[in-house]
Amino acid sequence: MKLGSLEVWPPVVLAPMAGITNAPFRTLCREQGGGLFVCEMITTRALVERNAKTLKMIRFDPAEQPRSIQLYGVDPVTVGRAVRMIAEEDLADHVDLNFGCPVPKVTRRGGGSALPYKRNLLRAILREAVRNAGTLPVTMKMRKGIDDDHLTYLDAGRIAVEEGVSAVALHGRTAVQHYGGTADWEAIARLKEAVTEIPVLGNGDIWSAADALRMMDETGCDGVVVGRGCLGRPWLFRDLAAACEGSPERARPLLGEVAATMDRHATLLTECFGSEPHAVADFRKHVGWYLKGFTVGADLRRRLATSADLASLREGLAELDPAQPWPDGVDAPRGKTHPRDRVHLPAGWLDDPYDLAVPGAEAELDTSGG
Ligand SMILES: Cc1cc2nc3c(=O)[nH]c(=O)nc-3n(C[C@H](O)[C@H](O)[C@H](O)COP(=O)(O)O)c2cc1C
Repeated sequence: MKLGSLEVWPPVVLAPMAGITNAPFRTLCREQGGGLFVCEMITTRALVERNAKTLKMIRFDPAEQPRSIQLYGVDPVTVGRAVRMIAEEDLADHVDLNFGCPVPKVTRRGGGSALPYKRNLLRAILREAVRNAGTLPVTMKMRKGIDDDHLTYLDAGRIAVEEGVSAVALHGRTAVQHYGGTADWEAIARLKEAVTEIPVLGNGDIWSAADALRMMDETGCDGVVVGRGCLGRPWLFRDLAAACEGSPERARPLLGEVAATMDRHATLLTECFGSEPHAVADFRKHVGWYLKGFTVGADLRRRLATSADLASLREGLAELDPAQPWPDGVDAPRGKTHPRDRVHLPAGWLDDPYDLAVPGAEAELDTSGG
């Protein structure tokens, strides 16, 4: 798969996930197999203002190649400045733009998945991003639209091509669906038909390597973007690489290996955050994902998920049965799975798909995901 000048093999992308795909998690995934591993979403305003926390979030392991940053922004000028900063200061090798965030406080201001409805604003953002990127490939990630009556992905795909974007990724859900129901792979096939000049990446509900192959087969997409399927399961990238090479081998780690990965994950987080309490607290959300399907008593699960420091986490991990085999049936949904009943939009947002008003700066505050 070629994203501009960047060759990616296997054609597999770790989906950006706020609060998850930081450098430690990307390291665990990268060690399993190749592909492109996108960092957590970075807001453009915070980046150009050189917010200290934001600058920390875009630190890459020296071995990480290519370095991929996802940006979230609503203002063409600020997005352009952020991309220029990345290019001029050699902060990354690839920039992805997030137009999929369904969080109410973002869409209510016209940001995230609400934005592609404003075709001209989308075009202006993409244009500024590409113009300022130099040789860096710029890609975009989006949802199908706001809801079934306001689908935007085909228009957005064409606009992306016209503005020189290097690839488009489609999460086959609308904003109102949030994470509920199943992803519509048909839409990915429609986008692939409409966008022939650049790679089309499919996203949504890949829980196993077999799902990835099936998505490529059914939709004709050029590559896949995998999010929740690898939560607590970085070795899914080993499976994805094997599957793309035509190998039937699949990782089935014993609980002992899973425990060792959990220990490593928490240790890497501690190094990255420079604070053990912060890292161990952040790691808590991963515990249930790692142990999904394994037989582990409720008390031990609870202790692992409430550990206050690495020592108590390790004590708990040592109690796990290292020989317990990989459970069957864990290729199932994990992470967020809920729908919403409505999308919050600014007043009158749907009246004119072509107006160019830029959402206020508040659309960039406290954003957290896709
Ligand atoms: C916890 C979490 C955080 C997310 N954060 C982002 C984000 O920062 N940027 C983005 O484009 N998508 C984000 N997403 C959406 C995923 O990238 C992906 O599009 C979505 O989960 C569907 O893919 P999946 O079915 O493989 O999980 C997030 C998803 C989750 C579950």
